[in-house]
Amino acid sequence: MEIDYTKIATASAEPEAGSMIETFRAIGYSIETAIADIIDNSISAGAKSIWIDYVWSGPDTIIGIMDDGCGMTNEELIQAMRPGSISPLTERAEHDLGRFGLGLKTASFSQCRKFCVASRKNYIESYWTWDLDFVNNVEAWKLIKYKPDGIDFTKHFDELKNGTVVLWWDLDRLTKDTQVDKESSKADFFATMERVKKHLSMVFHRYIEEGLNIFLRDRKITHWDPFMIGFEGLQPRPKTFLEEGKVSIKGFVLPHRSKLSAEEYNYGRGPKDSWTAHQGFYVYRNKRLLVAGDWLGLFKQEVHYDLCRIRIDMPNNMDDEWQIDIKKSVARPPIRIRDPILAVAKDVRTKAVEVYRHKGKVVRRKLAKNEYFPFWEEKTRHGKRFYRLNREHPMLREFLQKANDHAKQFEKVLQFIEETVPVPLITLHENENERPHGQPFEGKNHEVVLEVMQAIYKKLITEGLQPEQAKARIINMEPFNFYLEYLEQLEI
Ligand SMILES: Nc1ncnc2c1ncn2[C@@H]1O[C@H](COP(=O)(O)OP(=O)(O)OP(=O)(O)O)[C@@H](O)[C@H]1O
Ligand SMILES: [Mg+2]
Repeated sequence: MEIDYTKIATASAEPEAGSMIETFRAIGYSIETAIADIIDNSISAGAKSIWIDYVWSGPDTIIGIMDDGCGMTNEELIQAMRPGSISPLTERAEHDLGRFGLGLKTASFSQCRKFCVASRKNYIESYWTWDLDFVNNVEAWKLIKYKPDGIDFTKHFDELKNGTVVLWWDLDRLTKDTQVDKESSKADFFATMERVKKHLSMVFHRYIEEGLNIFLRDRKITHWDPFMIGFEGLQPRPKTFLEEGKVSIKGFVLPHRSKLSAEEYNYGRGPKDSWTAHQGFYVYRNKRLLVAGDWLGLFKQEVHYDLCRIRIDMPNNMDDEWQIDIKKSVARPPIRIRDPILAVAKDVRTKAVEVYRHKGKVVRRKLAKNEYFPFWEEKTRHGKRFYRLNREHPMLREFLQKANDHAKQFEKVLQFIEETVPVPLITLHENENERPHGQPFEGKNHEVVLEVMQAIYKKLITEGLQPEQAKARIINMEPFNFYLEYLEQLEI
């Protein structure tokens, strides 16, 4: 139904500035993601170098992010300071990392109550400040012409022809309850900055590899490559193109620990300090990492997929379909390409598990004696077939030993189970063969398998077996013979 706007009354319902900004503050940025959002702007502005600096001063701490990008004129700067300066629907230049026209404001306000943006274009400097306290006072969306002075690290800025610096202070969240001279406050702050460094080394690794300089204080941030390209033992999988070539997906099976030095293995633990937390998809928009190690709801993280990392590349004009959020930390593939993505993931996952299984086979080949512990054995009684639980299976043996008073009763239960095994039913179904018979624990949570394996492993070690011997023995027990890949996870 068409509405004739000329004939109806209107009323103004502008957002209330202070409360709107408080809402911005609740979007859920961390300091790492907030700084990354500011750096996005610097990259979009063509910066070759970006400098992050700070003056630690307890509650008066200042953080600055400076770049030598194209800079802004006074009018452009005022426009940039407006929330929603560009519509998400506007088509962007190919290299632009922005989308909502919000990042500068939301990221900054998420960390501080006051921020200044100073920008230089052809040696002419402009600056404006958003001050939440002032906005609350005047109850209006008003910038103030203010710039904090006497900051050492911005001296270099005064020499730039073009460039921009964003200064954050009154960092109420970061420096809450801190004191300048308190060692623990200082240590916390420096630990936070270390986290920022690691995060940036990952999120912008492809830009850094291509020559972008990002400095934290005066130290250059080196890139962290999730795919460990160039490391011995890496197995890249073929690249698949989707969406008429606009999206590409490529899996990597990372090198097994035995191929890496201790230092290289630690490198693989990445900013999250865990191989398991780093498995999964890495979604890049242009070359900017949005999602770092996540199965996008398709699988869950399990230790035996630790070697599995998959790169998805997409351009900056599919945001809507990929549901990119303001913080640039979420991306969900459109339903129509779920299947091909799933197929690639399955291939890489299988190959990744195969690396561990192969190691398991080597252990078995090297050390296994002529021993095998099935759970069930076939017996003959009066010329008839029966099935019996193997009391020598280490899991049963251990349980029977520990059962003490209950041992007799448990023995009875075992006998009843043995005497009532539904062999005719099983045989019938096996012959009809409608649905194939699943392997032990197939389609179930495997945690219990790993748990039991781990317990037996510990026991064998305390009994004096060497790790390799213990592993060889475990892999010859049913049903662990199906789970070679778990041998990797066993710990003393
Ligand atoms: N460092 C910078 N150098 C030059 N221009 C900048 C810089 N930072 C911001 N701008 C300008 O300000 C605008 C608004 O930035 P803002 O981060 O708020 O939104 P965006 O980058 O367009 O989109 P998004 O909300 O996705 O980040 C940018 O589009 C850009 O034109
Ligand atoms: Mg931005």
